[in-house]
Amino acid sequence: MRSFLFVIFFLIGLQNFLFVQSRSVRKNSFNVLHHGAVGDGIHDDTKAFMDAWEHTCNYMGSKSTMEIPRGKTFLLQPIEFNGPCKSKKIFFRIDGDLTAPKLPHKWRCENHKCDKWIGFGHLNGLYIDGRGTLDGQGRKWWSLNCKHDKIACQRRPRGIIIAHSNNVHVSNVNVKDSPNFQMSFESSRWVYVKDITITADGDSPNTDGIHLQRSQNVFISDSVIQTGDDCISIGDGSKHVNISKISCGPGHGISIGSLGRNGNKEAVESVYVRDSTFRSTTNGVRIKTWQGGKGHVRNVVFEHITFHESSRPIIIDQYYCPHSHCKNHTSAVRISDITYRHIHGTSDEKASVQLLCSETVPCRNIYMSDINLYTTRKENDRSSRDDHGSLSECINARGLSNGIVRPRVPCLRAERH
Ligand SMILES: *[C@@H]1O[C@H](CO)[C@@H](O)[C@H](O)[C@H]1NC(C)=O
Ligand SMILES: *[C@@H]1O[C@H](CO)[C@@H](O)[C@H](O)[C@H]1NC(C)=O
Repeated sequence: MRSFLFVIFFLIGLQNFLFVQSRSVRKNSFNVLHHGAVGDGIHDDTKAFMDAWEHTCNYMGSKSTMEIPRGKTFLLQPIEFNGPCKSKKIFFRIDGDLTAPKLPHKWRCENHKCDKWIGFGHLNGLYIDGRGTLDGQGRKWWSLNCKHDKIACQRRPRGIIIAHSNNVHVSNVNVKDSPNFQMSFESSRWVYVKDITITADGDSPNTDGIHLQRSQNVFISDSVIQTGDDCISIGDGSKHVNISKISCGPGHGISIGSLGRNGNKEAVESVYVRDSTFRSTTNGVRIKTWQGGKGHVRNVVFEHITFHESSRPIIIDQYYCPHSHCKNHTSAVRISDITYRHIHGTSDEKASVQLLCSETVPCRNIYMSDINLYTTRKENDRSSRDDHGSLSECINARGLSNGIVRPRVPCLRAERH
């Protein structure tokens, strides 16, 4: 009898022990609903998110999680999740949906500062994951009439900005319809983006999918990006960027630049783009620099790329000028060691390869091998037909070609075997 009671007491004790354990395990997890969030898409949940963030960030331990539960939509005003945090790793689980205010004048911009919707900053070990959608509600911003509403137009906020952070992982989330750039990484290192989807209308202004600025060791892969501007834009100070398995389009392609605006000294180096597909993009793989800039773009590889009806699949443009009244200058951002390998598909323009380089600072060490680009554009004038109907345009570019390169790019010297 005694031993039976002992066993009962032992089991009760064990149960209590496990219960306390499971509670303490859960204590490093902070659900926004427990901090006052409503999640009906109407009520402003910004304060509740801030409160849950304080707890997540200040948790003393090896990891803590901010939980955004599924099946709900949380309305957020511009908000910043800043560190440094006490917790060593921050998990930001977005299973529910987040939405910005629908109308531009409903955005609460403190001190006239409305540069972004959601910011993450000064975090070391950030894991953003989940199936939720982050809707920047850009539609009304895009349709502002810029002639009448110049200030609001210039202030279109960016979507998500992650800055001054290291060891950042973003996966699975859907980002859509930001008023401006959708997701940016600035001054950050060791960034891993995988399996995400970014969408905005094909004619929405400046809605670059992912923008990089002063960031190093960045890995972006297995993602779908459909937008109104560059799918990925790689800005000044980006180094060691590895992009693979991206489905891009509609959009303006994957671009390095623009660099060297207003005579600025800017640089990008060691960029690898591979195993990617472009559909109906205005450009494919592009390098764009302004006349009069300084700095460099070097060590770039574009390989195993497929195009479906992209207008300018391969383009280097050292005369970048989106507003059509730029002067030519003698200085330019120096472009060298750019490799294009195994690039196939179709263009809906005649010139599928354009290397438009500076007169005073020509492009050097351009290397092409196994390029096969057709044009789908129907021309009446059959006399100007090149091998595939597609042509190249080349000024001040130097380098080598190896094996099959179609269209022919005459400014590159054929490599001898
Ligand atoms: C880039 O990433 C791919 C896929 O993750 C990997 O196989 C490759 O080795 C990486 N390349 C570099 C130069 O880091
Ligand atoms: C600048 O130089 C390019 C290439 O030589 C030329 O096509 C273009 O017309 C020039 N632009 C101006 C504004 O002079």
